[in-house]
Amino acid sequence: MYLTHLACTACGRHHEASVPQNVCTACGKPLFAHYDLAAAARTLTKESLASREKSLWRYREVLPVKSESDIVSLGEGGTPLLPAPRLAARLGVRSLFIKDEAQNPTASFKARGMTTAVSMARQLGLKKLAVPSAGNAAGSLAAYAARAGMEAHIFMPKDTPKANVIECREMGAHVTLMDGLITDCGAEVARRKVAEGWFDVSTLKEPYRVEGKKTLGYELAEQFKWRLPEVILYPTGGGTGLIGMWKAFAEMQEMGWIDARRPRMFTVQADGCAPIVRAFDSGATSATEFLGAHTRASGLRVPKAIGDFLMLEALRKSGGGAVAVSDDAMIAAVREMGSAEGVFAAPEGGAACAALRLLLASGQVKPEESIVLFNTSTGLKYLECFDSE
Ligand SMILES: Cc1ncc(COP(=O)(O)O)c(C=O)c1O
Ligand SMILES: [Zn+2]
Repeated sequence: MYLTHLACTACGRHHEASVPQNVCTACGKPLFAHYDLAAAARTLTKESLASREKSLWRYREVLPVKSESDIVSLGEGGTPLLPAPRLAARLGVRSLFIKDEAQNPTASFKARGMTTAVSMARQLGLKKLAVPSAGNAAGSLAAYAARAGMEAHIFMPKDTPKANVIECREMGAHVTLMDGLITDCGAEVARRKVAEGWFDVSTLKEPYRVEGKKTLGYELAEQFKWRLPEVILYPTGGGTGLIGMWKAFAEMQEMGWIDARRPRMFTVQADGCAPIVRAFDSGATSATEFLGAHTRASGLRVPKAIGDFLMLEALRKSGGGAVAVSDDAMIAAVREMGSAEGVFAAPEGGAACAALRLLLASGQVKPEESIVLFNTSTGLKYLECFDSE
């Protein structure tokens, strides 16, 4: 158990990790978990990983849970890094990989964050969890809460894909569908949580979902044999995966596992909801709310994210950027990925592929670089987005 404390990502104020925490009590920004990495690195070695379980709990020294018995797991993480030579040939690049996050429990990368958040909720004695969600985080919370014997209270926009709504109900969650966007759902959770006794597990408004998500960075490093790829394209809503990977890279460098080189990180958003792209392009250090947000990639329908400043910092420090694609381009790219590689991607995964084409055309990514596309969920959860003829 190497977790030492929580600290605010904006003002640095320390917070006690032995009690439930949401955001910084001084400034309202996200909290990060900090570890005694020197001690962790004594048992968590590159060599030790060879004999460990496949799930993300293989990195347990740099994860927050104290006792093994509090871990709530469905076998998350350990997803394949698929070489994509046929898709690479179509796009005219040399070295392309798909990190296929659809192969997680609940068929999305949201399982990574929920295994750590729900495990910590168990450690801290919480019983009722609430979340606003674009869909996949809801499905994951429903699953992990059920597995832990806890209540899940879920608030989603009413146009969330049907698969997400059904999976939550079938896993026993309390589901409320709302007129509006994820931000409206978040406001509803905030309004009711005290009276209802709910703990809010909104992304980056509790400190441990990002800890699970950061294992994306550990896995990538391990799968690339400790030499990270040159370019990462990540479909971004709340940004937790992007922020988590950036944190993981810093931790691995501190443990002596990787050097100071970093992949160039690119945020991928939809034309109809691109607050981070706008902020990046204008040189801003935070993003303003994107009004009238709309896109079929429900996971990208996040008009305002509390971690905006952390994303923008990672994008800039990495030498990457931010790019938006149309809904038509992302749906077309799903078929391109599917027919070339046998991966039926979610529209969000298609967006990453469509964005790569734009970045190659603008010269921001070079054909000879090693490139990773994140497919964050499966097309099977989004059947209403595709033609069935
Ligand atoms: C399939 C999918 N991709 C990407 C995202 C965006 O994830 P993040 O909040 O980590 O930016 C989501 C979020 O709901 C999602 O469901
Ligand atoms: Zn603070």
